[in-house]
Amino acid sequence: MSGSGLTRFTGRTALLTAAASGIGEATAHRLAAEGASVLVTDVDAEGARRVAEEIGAQGGRARHRALDVTSVGAWTEAVETVTSWTRRLDVLHLNAGRNLPGAAHELDDASWHDQLRLCLDSVFYGVRATVPHLRAARGAVVITSSIHAAIGFKGFPAYAAAKGGIGALVRQFAVEYGGEIRFNSVLPGSVVTALWARTPQGYRDRTAARTPVGRLGTPEDIAAAVAFFASDDASFITGQNLLVDGGRSISSQE
Ligand SMILES: NC(=O)c1ccc[n+]([C@@H]2O[C@H](COP(=O)([O-])OP(=O)(O)OC[C@H]3O[C@@H](n4cnc5c(N)ncnc54)[C@H](O)[C@@H]3O)[C@@H](O)[C@H]2O)c1
Repeated sequence: MSGSGLTRFTGRTALLTAAASGIGEATAHRLAAEGASVLVTDVDAEGARRVAEEIGAQGGRARHRALDVTSVGAWTEAVETVTSWTRRLDVLHLNAGRNLPGAAHELDDASWHDQLRLCLDSVFYGVRATVPHLRAARGAVVITSSIHAAIGFKGFPAYAAAKGGIGALVRQFAVEYGGEIRFNSVLPGSVVTALWARTPQGYRDRTAARTPVGRLGTPEDIAAAVAFFASDDASFITGQNLLVDGGRSISSQE
């Protein structure tokens, strides 16, 4: 549990995607620790089950189900699961993503489309499926984008396009749904999760040295920002894309 002592989500329900690991898992724990009923979803159904059971063992309220965010039909089923459970949906954390590398002159069509489907189409599907319930609850959507949406890194054009598109959608949705639903995104810098499992220690050390706070991020660092945007503490904030990167993006250090 977060140990923050906050109870900002008591009586509220959250649906999280890609929550069997890393940032999504930490956010599920954080929201549950603050009182939310959480539906933990992931394409990895067993992983989602494990996270929900851990939350339950710690005294939180959690259920789980499989959800491949690229499947429109699976979104319909997930929304039915959550609304038949608590009859409300207050928070949606759209978190699925992974970076498929390849400079533009090397990238095939399938990789380009796979990247956009996973990181950007999925945001559209998720928002479309949940808007009626989020409207009724005056809810909040938080999307996990990336530092790649803000600055260029060699070899990741499709990832940059997909995550950059999230920034535009956040502004668009914030205007579209005005006072009914708030939309914000977080742009993590380098966060040690499974995505970093095969990264050599030397590269990690160099990345930490280039980061003004002097370390890599943790999933809990990002979960704290997601929880802030999802909570009433951010009730006057919508349409924003916040870098949570230890200052990496504002540093000139190479
Ligand atoms: N870790 C970082 O340094 C970093 C930096 C910037 C942005 N991000 C973003 O953060 C988000 C979470 O990444 P993470 O580092 O926690 O990764 P992670 O590898 O720890 O977890 C990713 C999860 O996504 C799930 N997943 C994959 N495809 C899916 C699908 N089609 N539908 C549903 N779930 C699916 C996986 O099963 C896994 O549980 C991603 O959007 C990623 O792009 C991560």
